[in-house]
Order: sequence, then C-alpha cells, then structure tokens
Amino acid sequence: MSITTTKVRKAVIPAAGLGTRVLPASKAMPKEMLPIVDKPAIQYIVEEAVASGITEILIITNRGKGDIENHFDRAPELESRLLEAGRQEAYDQIVSLTKMANICFVRQKETKGLGHAVNCARSFVGDEPFAILFGDDVILGEKPVTAQLCEAYEKYGLGVVGTKEMPAETVMRGSSLKLAPLEGETNIFKCTDLVEKVKRVEDLLSNYTILGRCVCPPEIFDILDHTPPGAGNEIQLTDALAQLAKTKGLTAVDFEGKRYDMGNKLGILQATVDVALAHPEVSEGFKAYLKEIIDKL
Ligand code: UTP
Repeated sequence: MSITTTKVRKAVIPAAGLGTRVLPASKAMPKEMLPIVDKPAIQYIVEEAVASGITEILIITNRGKGDIENHFDRAPELESRLLEAGRQEAYDQIVSLTKMANICFVRQKETKGLGHAVNCARSFVGDEPFAILFGDDVILGEKPVTAQLCEAYEKYGLGVVGTKEMPAETVMRGSSLKLAPLEGETNIFKCTDLVEKVKRVEDLLSNYTILGRCVCPPEIFDILDHTPPGAGNEIQLTDALAQLAKTKGLTAVDFEGKRYDMGNKLGILQATVDVALAHPEVSEGFKAYLKEIIDKL
C-alpha cells in the first residue's frame, strides 16, 4: 500500500506532570532531570527524537520545571571556564546539546492531564503530523523508537502508538489496547479501541499498553478540545486516541527497544544499571562493584 503522507518533523514532549511517584526527589527538581548515569532522562528523549529526524521540539513544562529549560540553554560562565581549563571535550558536549534541534517550551498552566498537556502544543504543531514522547519514558535500543513509529505513520497515513505486551498490573496503571492484525505485518497492528486505567482485570482489552510514544495527525487537537476529563478526573490522551481509532483509524507498533519508566523508582534504578554497565567511563568499575556485592544479595 502506498500513501502520500507528510514527513514527521515535529515532536512534543509532555513533561509537566507532578511526578508524585518519585517524591521526594521530584519535589523541587523535575523528575525528567533525574540522571541516568551522567545525562538527565529528558536528554535521552530529545536525542531519540533528533536521531529519528525530528528538527522541531516543544517541551511542555510547568512553573516548577525551569531546570529543563536551563539544561538546553547555553551556559556562558561554565563554557568559558571549561575552555580556559583546556577541557574541549566537555565544552563540546555541553554546547552541542543546545544545538541538537530547535527546542522551545510552553507551560501547561494547570496539571489537567496528559491530553490537556498535548493540547497546549496546538499552535506549535499547526496542520502537520507530530510525534509525542512522554517525558518520563526513556527507551533505548538500536533503532530509535520514534523513527519506528514515524515509518509506520508514513506507510499507512494513520496515527500510531508505540506498544508492548506487559503484565496485567502494569497495563491497569496505563492504557489497554484492542488490536487486530494488519496484513503483511508482523509488529504493526490495527488499533481499534483503547481504555485508560481499567479497574478490573476482566475489563482489559489486551495486555498491550502504550509505552511512551505516539505519532498523531493534527486532527487529534479537535478531538482533545471535546474530550471530557476521564480516569483520575484528568483529560486523557488515551480517550482522544480511542476516538481517533474509531474515526480516522489508528495503528500500533510493537517496537524494538527497552523502555524504562523514569516516573517510577524501580525504573530509574533499572535504567541506571543498564546504562552504567555499557558506559565506557564507568562500566569496568561498576561491574567490579556489582560482583563484589552480588554474593551478599
Ligand atoms: P504520568 O501520569 O506518568 O506523570 O504522565 P505524572 O502525573 O508526573 O505521574 P505521577 O503519577 O504523579 O508520578 C505521563 C506523562 O505526561 C506528562 C508527564 O510529565 C509524563 O511525561 N503529564 C501528565 C503532563 O505533561 N501534564 C499532566 O497534566 C499530566
């Protein structure tokens, strides 16, 4: 099937949640700034977007998240100090992260849910498709997940959600997807319905859940305008996607990559261990330390 679609070049990163699952760490510091070894979570997410061909990024923040803006801004005093000290590599590293893409910010003035946060991106997005990367979901793998979703969007011309099969208790804390096979595909499905935060296992549509990535057509904004508050009394992106699935259509990509929930204490630890074990600077020392303590566990 060949469909003419617009290339996805914009991304929205909602990062305005209160992060109550990682308190007290997230009280004064945005949870998106919690580091995985030496980079804040949100930098991994921006890097994934850029590696997927995205050139324009909007990060949705709130009044407590100024550190995210500072991280992607120039830091003249620090830069000149590094240059004076001959630390060219460190200088290049902190300057290049400010030039990765055109990054801008908008505040979600009230924490009314992920759907409400995405709707704050309307004027940035305009009339084109865009990727959504949840600010607390870091996904690492060979091929950036956003690129995998954009390919599916460009192939079918329909919105796409990134998914994986998860244990029921995880799915019940997020969305549950109803999927149907798509001819000739092994990891792309039709998604015909979605529900958010079901209370009983028997109400799950399946054990497939959205894990932190979507690509949406601009029609999602009109749907969000009419989406009433749902689970948790928040405007849910899942409810708007369910509407999209039933009208224009939606697909789901069972993506390749490992996802870390950085909004969750265990997720942060798992990301730290995996990244540290592969990090050229610390992997040897970290492996030795793990071997030392493993017998005592
Ligand atoms: P979560 O529900 O995982 O984030 O939202 P949260 O609200 O910070 O979590 P807890 O339960 O209090 O710990 C998924 C994504 O949506 C963003 C979050 O920042 C996260 O990236 N979000 C959520 C917003 O931007 N605005 C909102 O009103 C709610």
